[in-house]
Amino acid sequence: MSDNRKIIIAIDGHSSCGKSTFAKAIAARLGYIFIDTGAMYRAVTLYALEHGAIRSGIVDEEAVVALLDQIAITFRFNPERGASDIYVNGELVEGRIRTIEVSNCVSRVSAIPAVRRKLVAMQQEMGRRRGVVMDGRDIGTVVFPDAELKIFMTADPAVRARRRYDELCAKGQHVTLDEIERNVRERDRADSGRAISPLRRADDALVLDNSRMTVEEQMAWFMDLLQLKMKN
Ligand code: DC
Repeated sequence: MSDNRKIIIAIDGHSSCGKSTFAKAIAARLGYIFIDTGAMYRAVTLYALEHGAIRSGIVDEEAVVALLDQIAITFRFNPERGASDIYVNGELVEGRIRTIEVSNCVSRVSAIPAVRRKLVAMQQEMGRRRGVVMDGRDIGTVVFPDAELKIFMTADPAVRARRRYDELCAKGQHVTLDEIERNVRERDRADSGRAISPLRRADDALVLDNSRMTVEEQMAWFMDLLQLKMKN
């Protein structure tokens, strides 16, 4: 696709349904930049955990907001992963943002209006020149309501929990399937029920339920969709 036809592809949906894997594959195929916005909310949560704004699982909202000015988030492309790694104040945090501890607090941190304002502004700046595939919860509704292509991904919560469980076990983390499923369901509830930018399907987003689809099948579905879009 030539540069002047570069578009924004917004991928929203429930947690742990493979949004990032799908978005990354699309970006690689189109030569676009892939941005995982969940990683940005996780990075703020990690920083808050490490700087005393979250204690024993209790998020002190004022303390999180007070830390915001100290947090500089950057991305750097990692050719081994085929995606960008996330850094906080120059420190690589990619490996530390996906623990169950961060997962358990990130919904509450991401419901803080000042946190969303800061990260949404960054995301809009990153997509200013188009040619991005961005995944999150509010990309098609708030960050880029004018995105040319919007996809809303979902899958059965039990299937999502199993996928996340396998992923964490492969990384050597000690978790139980039960605890992961509880976290997945709780995040669905929190992400959809929050007052600010709740997770919801944009009216013009297409639904992709990948409970029983491989990544290859999802890509084939997407390429058909893209072709159709580009014709119109
Ligand atoms: O995609 P993920 O599971 O890594 O996202 C982590 C959390 O961040 C998720 O529970 C909700 C929040 N999030 C959000 O509120 N808005 C986004 N655009 C992306 C993530």
